[in-house]
Amino acid sequence: MPESFFVLSKDYLELAIDEVIAISKMYDRFAKAKVISNLVIIQSKTNWNKITKRASFVKISGQILRKMSGLFLDEGNVEVLKNAKTFVCRIINLSSNQFNIPELERSMGDMISKFSHAKVELQNPDITVYLIFTDQENFFGFSKRISKKNRPKKIKNHPHELDWKLTRVMINLIGLKEGETVCDPFCGTGTTLLEAESMGVHAIGLDFDKKMYKISKENLKTNGYKSKVFKSDFQELSKISREFNGIVTDLPYGRASKASEKPEEIMEKFFSIPLKRKKMAIMYKKELGKNLKLKGIKKYEIYRHKSLTRTILIK
Ligand SMILES: C[S@@+](CC[C@H](N)C(=O)[O-])C[C@H]1O[C@@H](n2cnc3c(N)ncnc32)[C@H](O)[C@@H]1O
Repeated sequence: MPESFFVLSKDYLELAIDEVIAISKMYDRFAKAKVISNLVIIQSKTNWNKITKRASFVKISGQILRKMSGLFLDEGNVEVLKNAKTFVCRIINLSSNQFNIPELERSMGDMISKFSHAKVELQNPDITVYLIFTDQENFFGFSKRISKKNRPKKIKNHPHELDWKLTRVMINLIGLKEGETVCDPFCGTGTTLLEAESMGVHAIGLDFDKKMYKISKENLKTNGYKSKVFKSDFQELSKISREFNGIVTDLPYGRASKASEKPEEIMEKFFSIPLKRKKMAIMYKKELGKNLKLKGIKKYEIYRHKSLTRTILIK
């Protein structure tokens, strides 16, 4: 089974690791994962590129050619360069050892040049060959040039809007596939709807505030997206529950955004809506969830500042 590697940013490491694993399992339920610090090795029939395109916190990724016992390269290992005109070598050092990285990259490049016709090109080469050092094992891998992620445009913003990466992570953590539908009952500026559509997931948004409803509509229109938005209270959810597979939302905190009633009351009402068999990723202010004793598959804590820690609850 092919193996891929993903080097993750350390900003929200637990979320980042779980996201890559969730995406891999969504496409191939037999996918296996191994985590070494911020490196995730996935054994799966899904191509690394497909996983990378959906993920939010992947910095570098590619396919593993083999685990290494030493620094030996031979003709077999440079087979990937067969049709490449240009390549570059990169060392990723996640181990506690110090290496002279530029020197190593240069000598690896020289070694590869002996077996391949491809020329070294530092910027934007056809193939990047990676040597990854960790304290446990070393890996030899490669990636091909990939097109940049297609990011949705947002022409209207609002201070309460959610960070696109966290929104995307939530969609991925509940494993919504392309063609399925997500609902955001507090859609605000439409971040969930935009991220979902950019990944091929359909979306439905609700917001009781006319201003937010309009902003969402405009943001969708700019991108030519077709998600439905309704100016409506979140309690309408139960009436449309057959139209979506999962919920991704960020509940009102009572700051910056308008709220129909106290945020605590909204939360209580929201969690009492019977929504069976729906996957859910719900973000809320940690403090507001204390009395509700909410249970789920997993909770993540996102620290913002002294008086704001948010929870992401996966149900
Ligand atoms: C924290 S903001 C969501 C921000 C959104 N994720 C974004 O990225 O723009 C909460 C939203 O809930 C909406 N809201 C408050 N009470 C509501 C209710 N009863 N029904 C539906 N939406 C409501 C507010 O208008 C606000 O847009």
